Amino acid sequence: MSTTHLGHIFHIAGSPTVDLAADALVELPDGALVVSDTGAIEYCGPRAERPKLPGEVVIDHGSAFLMPGFIDTHIHFPQVYSTDAYGGGQLLEWLNNCIFPAEARLADPEFAQQAARDFTARRIASGTTAAMVFGSAFPAAQNALFTETQSAGLRIVSGRGIQTAGPETAASLITSESDAIALTAEEIARWHCADTGDPSTARLQVAVVPRFSLSVTTHTLRSLGELYDDVRDRGVYVHSHLNENNRPGTGEIDTVKALFGVESYLDTYDGKFLPGSVVGGPGLLGRRTIMAHAVHCTDDELARMAQTGTSIAHCPVSQLFLGSGTMPWKRTIAAGVTVAAGTDVGAGDEWLISRVLSDAFKVHITEPGDASVSLHPAELLFTGTLAGARALDMEDRFGNFDVGKDADFLVIEPDRWPPLAATIERGIRSDDPDHARDQLLFALLMGLREPAIAEVHVAGRRVEVRSDDHPTRGRA
Ligand code: GUN
Ligand code: ZN
Repeated sequence: MSTTHLGHIFHIAGSPTVDLAADALVELPDGALVVSDTGAIEYCGPRAERPKLPGEVVIDHGSAFLMPGFIDTHIHFPQVYSTDAYGGGQLLEWLNNCIFPAEARLADPEFAQQAARDFTARRIASGTTAAMVFGSAFPAAQNALFTETQSAGLRIVSGRGIQTAGPETAASLITSESDAIALTAEEIARWHCADTGDPSTARLQVAVVPRFSLSVTTHTLRSLGELYDDVRDRGVYVHSHLNENNRPGTGEIDTVKALFGVESYLDTYDGKFLPGSVVGGPGLLGRRTIMAHAVHCTDDELARMAQTGTSIAHCPVSQLFLGSGTMPWKRTIAAGVTVAAGTDVGAGDEWLISRVLSDAFKVHITEPGDASVSLHPAELLFTGTLAGARALDMEDRFGNFDVGKDADFLVIEPDRWPPLAATIERGIRSDDPDHARDQLLFALLMGLREPAIAEVHVAGRRVEVRSDDHPTRGRA
């Protein structure tokens, strides 16, 4: 039996690139989303024109908005409690002073279990139906994460954070070379497509996750490349950080270049990790690879990412928090790389992807001279939904309301967050219907906060925070 959800629909239809997102924006004020009993979208269009199916169940959401679920392409599970971390400096100080010690706490399985429950609850509260999750170093913590995610019904790609080198503060996160490979292989064997056995339907998938080049040796990079060569065909992912902090001399990028003797940071992930960017083993780039940040890429690096199908998780909230700079929007998009949104919790101190889109709007309009761009509301919506599905190489399955895709959607009730309701009702609107539509979508994306997300659905099934896990409720 089908279920019909009535509401005010916004989505980006088809499969546009970001520059064509505005043409692909669909608004249906009296919309209907018809979902089959297997959770697939059977119809998305005006409610008056929907096919009347025998025994149809109709849920009228009134003036609520129906939007595709948000997709977070970069979020750290073991930083679930770290959005308030004062590091006394930029990336490397913050890692040493706050993050490595915080992540070490997940060695305690009970702590890790609670962290997995809280992390999953926060994902539901913020409507993040699919995510690339940077994992914990500890296998028991990863088991808890996958188990919680599966019982909630969310989608996840994750892998344990791999570290074989680093400062004393990271000691408990660092393993031997052989353990790094063995634990990663074990996680793939245990969790990759553990639910359906098939990457084209699985909600649980695994990534190979070297923390960043400063956390691994050339030996690790070679072994991970070899491991990845063996599992690529099974749809395993790769996830890491790239070109985030460019403080001269002592920052991340200069340290990577000095340590490895490479011409570019990307080379370390591209198999060219030996001095002079000489090839040392198989690379880790490809359609299922997502690099977080990519703020300070050269044109050659962007071209190589586009060539290999490697995507970027764009995390402006985090980049503001750590003073990492601004990814040049126009230049990055012009290179042909898919750019999707990432919260980067905990350097990002917001869980909601629309808050990331809001900061994206602000930082890119502030870029200097001709680089400044006023992102269209449809480009923002695209970046937080369909681009994420594309970056995850699962665009055929979700990301918008095209017929045949899984019904991953949010029900947004502005009345649950009065400041949002007020701007939607009383904000200025153009007489031109297209412009008024764009203004309304912009108001929705800029004003949305967690309380207004009334329902979260994955493949047609409602996902709910367990009553004892509610993220806004205090816990002793
Ligand atoms: N680079 C290496 N590790 C991290 C991390 O945990 N967060 C961010 N933002 N960058 C990193
Ligand atoms: Zn990160």
